[in-house]
Amino acid sequence: MAVCQRIHNTNCRLRAPVDWSLDRPKSTASAVPTLIGMADIQTPPVARRRSGDPEPDLTGFVVIHRAMIADARRLAGALAAMAEGAPPPPERIAAVRAYARPYLTEIHHHHENEDEVLWPVIEAAAGQAIDLAPLTDDHRALAPVLARAERALAGLGPGGREALRELADALADLRDLLEEHIADEERQVFPVVRRFVPRESFEWCERRFQEKAGLGHIRFLLPWIARHTAPAEMDHLLRRGGLPFRVLLALFRGRHAALERRVFG
Ligand SMILES: [Fe+2]
Repeated sequence: MAVCQRIHNTNCRLRAPVDWSLDRPKSTASAVPTLIGMADIQTPPVARRRSGDPEPDLTGFVVIHRAMIADARRLAGALAAMAEGAPPPPERIAAVRAYARPYLTEIHHHHENEDEVLWPVIEAAAGQAIDLAPLTDDHRALAPVLARAERALAGLGPGGREALRELADALADLRDLLEEHIADEERQVFPVVRRFVPRESFEWCERRFQEKAGLGHIRFLLPWIARHTAPAEMDHLLRRGGLPFRVLLALFRGRHAALERRVFG
């Protein structure tokens, strides 16, 4: 069941069954105006991937989805324990704020990137093979839960047990919704991307995501991704990312590991 069907029973359209046929007309190269922040982004012409062409590399997406779910679980658990136990020292509260804020920002970015950059590319390549509207509705349903978590985070301070409890509850809701949404997304979207989206079009999307992140967010993002990456995936990402990825990761990894220890012990 889609996340939004659980939250807002009336707001979701039924998912259309995937049409795997290849005898539909090729999607025409189209320019779809989208909006990211204040800048218009024009989707470049997207043709359907031809059989035998290289598939898009979804490793980065797989790892980010895994990290989003793993940390919703870890943060919800750690904060619930903090809310019930002895008042945490101010340094630990500061560490929670320093960790949870960019984590929530990344979830915002990820959903905006999907809605505004990736979805138009998939629609141009795959046509009627997938209906992405229910997944966009899921993102809308997740937004108020993220807002609740951000409000609780802003109110977090030494001795603020109530805000800790509110944050723990919001993150538990986020965990439940993300688990369901990401499972739906990977089951429905990944096969369509692999089949219909040319590798170069997917890489164009990834470059837009990176441009949006900015160095301040990259400082959290790279070591956070690395923390949830299996060794073979890490080797692959390091090969793809080249020297800049290696250098930035080496710069930020130690500080991130120290922050993680202060949050989770
Ligand atoms: Fe999503």
